[in-house]
Amino acid sequence: MARVLSGVKPTGKMTLGNYLGSFRNFPKFQDDNQAYIFVADLHALTLPIDPLVLHSTTYDIVSFYLASGLDPKKTVLFRQSDIPEVGMLNAILVNYVYMGELSLMTQFKEKSAKLNQKAIGCGLFTYPVLMAADIFLYDSDIVPVGEDQRQHVELAHEIARRFNSRYGGEIIKLPKYVTPAVGKRIMSLSDPLHKMSKSDDREAQKGVIYLQDDEKTIRKKIMSAITDSGSEVKFDPAEKPGISNLLTIYGALKGMEPEEASKLFVGQNYGTFKKAVADAVMDELGPFQQRFNAFRSDESALEDLFSQGALKAREAAKPVLNRVMKAVGLR
Ligand code: TRP
Repeated sequence: MARVLSGVKPTGKMTLGNYLGSFRNFPKFQDDNQAYIFVADLHALTLPIDPLVLHSTTYDIVSFYLASGLDPKKTVLFRQSDIPEVGMLNAILVNYVYMGELSLMTQFKEKSAKLNQKAIGCGLFTYPVLMAADIFLYDSDIVPVGEDQRQHVELAHEIARRFNSRYGGEIIKLPKYVTPAVGKRIMSLSDPLHKMSKSDDREAQKGVIYLQDDEKTIRKKIMSAITDSGSEVKFDPAEKPGISNLLTIYGALKGMEPEEASKLFVGQNYGTFKKAVADAVMDELGPFQQRFNAFRSDESALEDLFSQGALKAREAAKPVLNRVMKAVGLR
């Protein structure tokens, strides 16, 4: 059985893009594979974050996992900081990654550019190393993540290869990156040339559907989504980015290709089409939000779940860490 590993960082409010790209896809991995899905709370510290926000968002993420249908009996659901082994592996791995490699990472370049240049935390720089430790610790075969994390998984692959060739044998399992078929390109409703991502910018937030928005807000955002000139509901990302984005969302929810979805709206105007998109979003998000609220309201149950998950995750982690420690001579 292949081992699948993924995590989400508990920073900021999660969006429809996160839902279609991550949460909604994870349950697919829990029947034919052994899935390890976690809350990457240590990674959240790589940029300044309010402790109360971090604490609360961690519970949000695990509640989103549960609301999506991840079943703790099948999937190992855990919190990164409950696993001391990941810190140890990280401390070892930093010695096998080059500063030159880390400085090439797009995410580091983008995020550090926005900071005071004299106050860039080292954790932001070594972010991919901790991520590699996450990946290696559970002997992961498959790592489903969005396009933005691809470079990090590729670097992890390179680190594993380098480590193994230095010490001989397959001490670290080589991971493979996979990206979700849908949801990888959900764009902003107000600016369909840019990704729908969490943002502090008030204007930009109009184009973002947050998973915790209420129904009225969600419908309003969809009805006021930017559309394109013309009046035809057609999938054409170059000429009609706004309509195409709505078709991508509709298609992802209904399990069809956007082109196929467009056939349902031949001859209909933008307003009717948007209403159908809003209905499709609410048909799915409405019940999802109800399940989320039920899980989120019981933090002590979530803590119990984390304890159970940590036991199972550590059980998988210990032999891997032993192998690595032995290989380098620490044991
Ligand atoms: N970096 C991922 C994110 O931004 C979270 C993450 C941390 C992760 N470690 C990982 C994802 C290991 C996959 C595998 O959300």
